[in-house]
Amino acid sequence: MHALEFRNVKFSYGENAFAIENLNFTVEEGEFVAILGHNGSGKSTLARLSNGLLEADEGEILAFDLPLVRKNLYEVRKNVGVVFQNPDNQAVASIVEDDVAFGAENVGLPRAEIGARIDFALKAVGMENLRHATVSRLSGGQKQRVAIAGVLALKPKVMILDESTAMLDPRGRREIIDVVLRLNKEEHITVVLITHFMEEALLADRAVVMNRGQIVMQGTPAEIFGRHEELLTYNLALPRIGQICKGLREGGIPVEDTLEIEKLAEEIAKCVS
Ligand SMILES: Nc1ncnc2c1ncn2[C@@H]1O[C@H](COP(=O)(O)OP(=O)(O)O)[C@@H](O)[C@H]1O
Ligand SMILES: [Mg+2]
Repeated sequence: MHALEFRNVKFSYGENAFAIENLNFTVEEGEFVAILGHNGSGKSTLARLSNGLLEADEGEILAFDLPLVRKNLYEVRKNVGVVFQNPDNQAVASIVEDDVAFGAENVGLPRAEIGARIDFALKAVGMENLRHATVSRLSGGQKQRVAIAGVLALKPKVMILDESTAMLDPRGRREIIDVVLRLNKEEHITVVLITHFMEEALLADRAVVMNRGQIVMQGTPAEIFGRHEELLTYNLALPRIGQICKGLREGGIPVEDTLEIEKLAEEIAKCVS
């Protein structure tokens, strides 16, 4: 089953230009998809359309075969959770466990069920020891993990993270990526990771590049990052290891392109021996 499906979707914020234009895009259940694209390419708009925060002007959007129309929104939002960029304006309560409970309480679950879900969500993000902590005193990475737990408490089948690591330090970023990988691999939650960190995209099953509201490239991360010139035209850089390969070749050491550190070491050894 498709977790998400966009069929010829168009969306404009009311100005002339379309933020999303003739977008066809599917995410399979269980997949981990990374979405790349420079500022203004339509990534956040895609995220907002995916759970009905925005409504398409044309075309159709389905989440688990359910069309995103007003009467289905409640159902869709239980299935599709979105975590945004800023860890400081996602909290709604001052204590961690209350914040995590908020969404689950709003959908009217029984007390005992809410308790079980808070336990599950806090454990999934590795925050069970901080359940009574004050959110405002947490680090950025911890705040984002609380935000993820709040979404998880709704037991979504797909989780969209819209640059949720962008404002974090490297350690906070690592924390979030570890949680995301665990949710995908162990809890079988479908993940759409919108990011401008190429390293994060390397972890995905599939990478998608957006430009001017359309998908312009997609494939495995290795395929995408093998297409240097094309990436450059969309203002995207290579991951660090790709830059190193390219630099070595330009410096006269003809290494094969690779995204694996061991392979690169072997390539260098081959070239210099
Ligand atoms: N709230 C808004 N009102 C008007 N235009 C917007 C709004 N949000 C985004 N846009 C425009 O829509 C386009 C896509 O933006 P967005 O989806 O935020 O891109 P990204 O997340 O890839 O940076 C851009 O041209 C942007 O200026
Ligand atoms: Mg954005």
